[in-house]
Amino acid sequence: MIHTAICDLLGIEHPIVLGGMGGGYTQSSMVAAVSNAGGLGTLGCHGRDGDQIAKDAADIRSATNQPFALNFLLFATDEEAFGAAIETRPAVLSYAWPKGDQDIQPYVRRAHDAGARVTYMAGSVAEARRGADAGADIIVAQGSEGGGHVSWMASLVLTPLIVDAVAPIPVLAAGGIADGRGLAAALALGADGVLLGTRFLASDESPLHDNFKQAIVASDGHDTALSEIPDLATGTVWPGAMSRSGRNRLIERWSGREWELRQNQAEVLAGIVAARRAGDIEEAPLSYGQDAGLIDAVSPAGDIVRQIASDAEQILSERLPGLVQ
Ligand SMILES: Cc1cc2nc3c(=O)[nH]c(=O)nc-3n(C[C@H](O)[C@H](O)[C@H](O)COP(=O)(O)O)c2cc1C
Repeated sequence: MIHTAICDLLGIEHPIVLGGMGGGYTQSSMVAAVSNAGGLGTLGCHGRDGDQIAKDAADIRSATNQPFALNFLLFATDEEAFGAAIETRPAVLSYAWPKGDQDIQPYVRRAHDAGARVTYMAGSVAEARRGADAGADIIVAQGSEGGGHVSWMASLVLTPLIVDAVAPIPVLAAGGIADGRGLAAALALGADGVLLGTRFLASDESPLHDNFKQAIVASDGHDTALSEIPDLATGTVWPGAMSRSGRNRLIERWSGREWELRQNQAEVLAGIVAARRAGDIEEAPLSYGQDAGLIDAVSPAGDIVRQIASDAEQILSERLPGLVQ
């Protein structure tokens, strides 16, 4: 079995974490399934109010007695939701994307005061140092291959850069990782585990419409684009990121015409909401990473955790030792 510092720090069996995908991309059954399989499930709290977070945490607890995390996008976190999350006493609070001038230390301190560990996601070395300086227990090095909002550096380079920059703080590698090869590679780069988003979007417990899950399965990984189009449509100003999503009709239509999209924002958003509901994979943003090319089936989230752990173990214990003469 693969055992790293992160397993001890978070009280988990496998160093595999579900990315806390907010905006309705994670739900309690998905979180519990990952935690029950020995990984760390994370609920994305962005878009949920305090009552909903309290209910979700209770639902997770009724389905597992294992640790789980609650995730916040710091630039958009309101006190009512965050306070309710702290009240639920999660094992881990997971943070990402503060504004450039935002003080993140109070969020770290309040998590620690509530007995929680803190993970902090960074897409650059400077951002990783910021999280480390604020007292985060784990830094997530998020490479630009990943789905949703990402920075500019690929995981293969960013992970060891951040490992060196924040040592001895342990690092989770994220972005472009969807199988045991990715976990084995991340460990070789100096990370102590991995955090996955896209792979779990194509799970039985994912709240996505089945058409979206099948679009991930069908993707060869070459069909994504970085754009501001999903954010312009929702009127969100994201601090320092574009968003990676499938290059569908919606993205093709507005690429290069962002000014016009801003002009028609309400109408475009209404179309997206309707398309999402109808499972129309061409007219709603499909936030997935390049690792969609590595995903060929929708599977139970627990099986995904177990398969990645056992495949990585096999690579580390059988294939790689045989290469050393
Ligand atoms: C649809 C979607 C929504 C996301 N929302 C969040 C979020 O609310 N908070 C966060 O910390 N990360 C969020 N992420 C990023 C993931 O936590 C993770 O870093 C990323 O998915 C890793 O790359 P991968 O998709 O290749 O696994 C999101 C990712 C996706 C695909």
